[in-house]
Amino acid sequence: MGVTSLLAIACSLVLTARGQSPTFSRTSSGDGRCMYSFTVPSPAEERCSEPGEALRAVRELQRERAAQRGELESMGQRLRLLEGRLGGREDAETGKLRADKADLLRRLQAAEQENARLRDGRCPGHRDSARDSQQLARGGRQDFFNVPSRKRAPSGREASKWNFESTGYQELKSEIITEIPASKLAPQSESGGTSQSPADCGMLEWVGEPVTFQKADSIVGRYGVWMKDPEPVPPHSTEHIWRINTVGTDIRQLYEYQDLDQFMKGHTSKVYLLPEPVESTGATVYRGSLYYQKRKSRTLLRFEMKSETILVRKDLANAGYRGVFPYSWGGYTDIDFAVDELGLWVIYSTSQAYGAIVISKLDPSTLEVEQTWATAIRKRAVANSFIICGVLYTINSYSNQNAVINFAYNTNTNSSKALAIQFENRYRYNSMVDYNPAEKKILAWDNFNMVMYDIKLTKM
Ligand SMILES: *[C@@H]1O[C@H](CO)[C@@H](O)[C@H](O)[C@H]1NC(C)=O
Repeated sequence: MGVTSLLAIACSLVLTARGQSPTFSRTSSGDGRCMYSFTVPSPAEERCSEPGEALRAVRELQRERAAQRGELESMGQRLRLLEGRLGGREDAETGKLRADKADLLRRLQAAEQENARLRDGRCPGHRDSARDSQQLARGGRQDFFNVPSRKRAPSGREASKWNFESTGYQELKSEIITEIPASKLAPQSESGGTSQSPADCGMLEWVGEPVTFQKADSIVGRYGVWMKDPEPVPPHSTEHIWRINTVGTDIRQLYEYQDLDQFMKGHTSKVYLLPEPVESTGATVYRGSLYYQKRKSRTLLRFEMKSETILVRKDLANAGYRGVFPYSWGGYTDIDFAVDELGLWVIYSTSQAYGAIVISKLDPSTLEVEQTWATAIRKRAVANSFIICGVLYTINSYSNQNAVINFAYNTNTNSSKALAIQFENRYRYNSMVDYNPAEKKILAWDNFNMVMYDIKLTKM
């Protein structure tokens, strides 16, 4: 049985008559708590199965996914082998393999959608809690764990459970890594050459220790983005700070703080309600607008804070989204805005680029793509990236305390370079890393903590 059908069955409330299939469902207990239940067949009606059986059910689900993943990986390998031999030419067999691979990816995506439906509690026929409890009483059902609704602020201890449910599949998808065939990529070379960057520009040479300014106090703040505007417009200044907590399914709140002091005290001066929900941690603030990716889309939005309206909506051509080309930690980090001395950028990938990082320079008023660069850096292989003076830098790990900035791609010269600049993930789960060209500092969100890093640049 495939993942899709297994999850589809989980959506129905039929407890028996489904053979040996374990099921998984979510219900509301009516007191603000969500119950996640695994159901495993029990030979005796009145006897609940042992926890061991429930665990076996979970493992079966995982095995199903692993099998599909394995299939996908072996196809990827065959495809790469053929591509290597053909040297870029196409034939019937690569065509067939490509089609099979696309089909598998579609099935995985369908499974993920089912998973998301379960997560959001949108199972059809799941509203009858009285019937639920009757069936519960009849036995055979095993409550595996209870998680509070997101409306209540859960404790830190519950964070890992929630995380298991919300990002488990997303993180698993991150493991489906297909290497980019070297033949498809531009050769790497040492950096150097001319630069059209401003006078105070340079190459990154050193990053300091993180300094913590704020810590989120509930699970919704495990991931997020905090920002300053390097080129503010009235009524805002370079003192203002904005923050978005990005855990949840309908993220629309943008918090504004007067200055760093108020930010550290947690005193908001304004809360904007965004007309469209936010996807992930890629947002940025620039010239009085919040730029962000609309949830479950490749649509880029420009939200002007003064008028509190969306001025521009623009689809980013061919950009992967919703976990197709995220950073290594997952979290739907497919599309990441960046601002540097030269302006507004967007970092993403496409299937045409085989998952390698693509950088586009954007016109900040219209969101038109001005120019695009294709790098040789696989996006899923890096934890995050940011741009300084037209140079993209990537970080090798989001969880290792002794991570390094391992790669630079210079859009001024179209060349790349391996690096080894120390970068500390003090709290071991860094979900957002952005450079701020006015501060000449790096802002990051590391496991509930909003941190800032000093940097040093050398001459370009
Ligand atoms: C670098 O690549 C861009 C985009 O492909 C191209 O427009 C530009 O001319 C290239 N610049 C150099 C210095 O090779």
